[in-house]
Amino acid sequence: MNQAELIQRAVQILREGGLVAFPTETVYGLGADARNAEAIGRIYRAKGRPSTNPLIVHVAGQDVARRYAREWGPEAQRLAERFWPGPLTLVVEKDPSIVDVATAGKSTVGLRAPDHPLTLELLRRFDGPLAGPSANRSTRVSPTTAQHVREELGGAVDLILDGGPCSVGIESTVLDLTSSPARILRPGGVSRELIEREIGVVGEFSGSVGESEAASSPGQQAVHYAPLAKAFLFGRGELEGVLEWCGRHMEQSWAVMLIGRWERAGSFFSRFGEGNGRPRLVLEMPEDAADYARRLYGMLRQLDGQGVETIFVEEPPADPPWRAVRDRLRRATVPFTPL
Ligand code: TXA
Ligand code: MG
Repeated sequence: MNQAELIQRAVQILREGGLVAFPTETVYGLGADARNAEAIGRIYRAKGRPSTNPLIVHVAGQDVARRYAREWGPEAQRLAERFWPGPLTLVVEKDPSIVDVATAGKSTVGLRAPDHPLTLELLRRFDGPLAGPSANRSTRVSPTTAQHVREELGGAVDLILDGGPCSVGIESTVLDLTSSPARILRPGGVSRELIEREIGVVGEFSGSVGESEAASSPGQQAVHYAPLAKAFLFGRGELEGVLEWCGRHMEQSWAVMLIGRWERAGSFFSRFGEGNGRPRLVLEMPEDAADYARRLYGMLRQLDGQGVETIFVEEPPADPPWRAVRDRLRRATVPFTPL
């Protein structure tokens, strides 16, 4: 099938209540018609997602968004004009045609126009609201390639559209426009600074709106967006302690994800060598926040695939460009405490 035929097929599947995985600039989504309660039920089952967690609804652009929002105020208009298509989800009061199961019973819906040519074409042809959470099992790492989706959800999806690797790599910013002032529920590709330039000061929810309503429970947060391996976050000054731990646990397989300069662990390797057949890795992650975000989920998946049991992740800098990455890492890991 050529691309036009594939998209035609995808539209047909969606109209018949099926599931289509689709690429976006952030992560791959698992799509169904947001007006079809049965199809939405299939999404929740495929993901193993708690029915209390609302789905994002994708649209081709503002014109379609207006149809599925009860109100589309000046803030929504301004932000959509500036950032759509792009990694910004706007939470607004929903139109009744969006079924309640799609929004977990909430009166609001998160709308976003994704910046990917294949999916924008799909959305234009579908001409409706495409509910689409990330195409992973609930609490797991979001997929950033079609292959990730195949591995994780293959059998549960009617069609996977392959649009190549995602260019942003972590999920969109979720901005609640129904509170006053507006409030960031999840940091992502569009920064708070950029949003504030358009609509003035916004709040930020510092807990977590993750894969379930775990906002109140740090323990639950720890498993969101998480790899299968045990994952620890360590401070920049704690590398010695981490390497000591690794030295004491040579029977295990582990990986240390540094930000740049893997040579910092060089003396460690001259002391302990490479281990016998079990992966023991010191990895150099990008020093640029956007590059890091693009690589993060793929790296966690790769380490799981290699059977790594423990992952140590170096904490990124505290400055604004790293905010979304820090948020995801906080939820994928627990803090390292030297034992
Ligand atoms: O980048 C993304 O946003 C990706 C791609 C596929 O678009 N989608 C995604 O969807 O990450 P999902 O369902 O995995 O995450 C949606 C997040 C959840 O944290 C959910 O709680 C929040 O958005 N959310 C969705 N609708 C909401 C609503 N009406 N009110 C508050 N939070 C909402
Ligand atoms: Mg998700």
